[in-house]
Amino acid sequence: MKVMVVGSGGREHAIIKKLKLSNEIDEIFALPGNGGMAEDATLVNVGAKDIEGLVKFATENSIDFAVVAPDDPLVLGAVDALNEAGIECFGPKANAAIIEGSKVFSKNLMKKYNIPTAQYEVFSDMETALDYIKTAPIPTVIKADGLALGKGVIIAQTREEAEDAIRSMMQDKVFGDSGSNVVVEEFLTGPEVSVLAFTDGNVVKPMISSMDHKRAFDNDEGLNTGGMGTVAPNPYYTSAVAEECMEKIFLPTIRAMKAEGREFRGCLYFGLMITPNGPKVIEYNCRFGDPETQVVLPLLESDLFTVMKATARGELDKTEVKFSDKSACCVILASKGYPVKYESGFELTLPETDADSEIFVAGAKLDGGKLLSAGGRVLGVTAIADDLKTAVENAYTLTDKVGFENGFCRRDIGQRALKAEVK
Ligand code: AMP
Ligand code: GLY
Repeated sequence: MKVMVVGSGGREHAIIKKLKLSNEIDEIFALPGNGGMAEDATLVNVGAKDIEGLVKFATENSIDFAVVAPDDPLVLGAVDALNEAGIECFGPKANAAIIEGSKVFSKNLMKKYNIPTAQYEVFSDMETALDYIKTAPIPTVIKADGLALGKGVIIAQTREEAEDAIRSMMQDKVFGDSGSNVVVEEFLTGPEVSVLAFTDGNVVKPMISSMDHKRAFDNDEGLNTGGMGTVAPNPYYTSAVAEECMEKIFLPTIRAMKAEGREFRGCLYFGLMITPNGPKVIEYNCRFGDPETQVVLPLLESDLFTVMKATARGELDKTEVKFSDKSACCVILASKGYPVKYESGFELTLPETDADSEIFVAGAKLDGGKLLSAGGRVLGVTAIADDLKTAVENAYTLTDKVGFENGFCRRDIGQRALKAEVK
């Protein structure tokens, strides 16, 4: 079988490495992938958002199955277009990917179907939004409606900050059309949990839970990033919380999407906050999380390709999705200056890995046999162990063996989870 994976980051590298273990797959293509994946996949110079190019490559090369990993092509309808050309895909169609593509859509869905989330108001007119802010409880959370590379959320600690956020989104259009509509929502508190789940539209099979570390620097300081590291499982996600999430959030979401004629097949990401009033949805993503995938998939014991095909075919009920009871930690090595401004082109030297470790390449290119940094997040260094403490230690031991002059990482990935474990 020939499989293509759309995307180019650490998440895609983790997907590719896991798919490689399947006996059924003969060749994997990455569109566009990155130089650090060249040993695991054939790189194809077609951009993830070039829907026509994806379809052309798939049909001309008799691709049997496509995995569309990033949000942009999903929201743009890559799965619809590939399906129309007769290519089987893992990933939701555009009418279901809207669950991430529009925050107004997802908030209205949750309200209609009583799925627990922060209270909110939607505004399409700036003056009305500014009026509302005058009396809104502070802190308040301002979100651009559309995709904004994970940067479209402002937690305003003062009324002035809230006003500035609304002006920059609605007047200055810092997120382009994504900010034409804004959601202003209640500020929630509590630990955050990421749960990725396979769903075929009827059945939902959650993967092992994980914890992201979104801020750039230690102790959760600095700007929000795409994620500086992850651990799995997440100690705040107890079996009681998991049961409550299944009953009040996961199943109601899948049923709601189906009832709306937007059946979701693929990986649905639940960004949850465990508030004093129970778990609530902070956000949905229509795809695997990054870097959550770099800890979740290494712990998957079932064959990923089998699970992906079952998801695409609506046969998830008959398919086992089994996870190891070990723990995993992923430390992201990013270019100094990320997420704002950084330089690329620094040489990377990667140490050997063993059966309990992996290095996923997120942003690199090959240049005359050398691997050079090419992006903000460059590497994801993952270790697995029987307990979280050892996984964290081993991930840092391996990270420290990487040669990357311009790199930096957080030194405290997993510390919050370790503290929560001993409570
Ligand atoms: P998002 O891009 O929606 O994941 O939001 C980015 C981050 O902002 C989340 O991971 C939370 O830490 C925070 N956040 C989003 N919405 C809220 C909220 N209603 N209350 C508190 N924090 C929030
Ligand atoms: N790590 C968060 C995300 O993938 O959106």
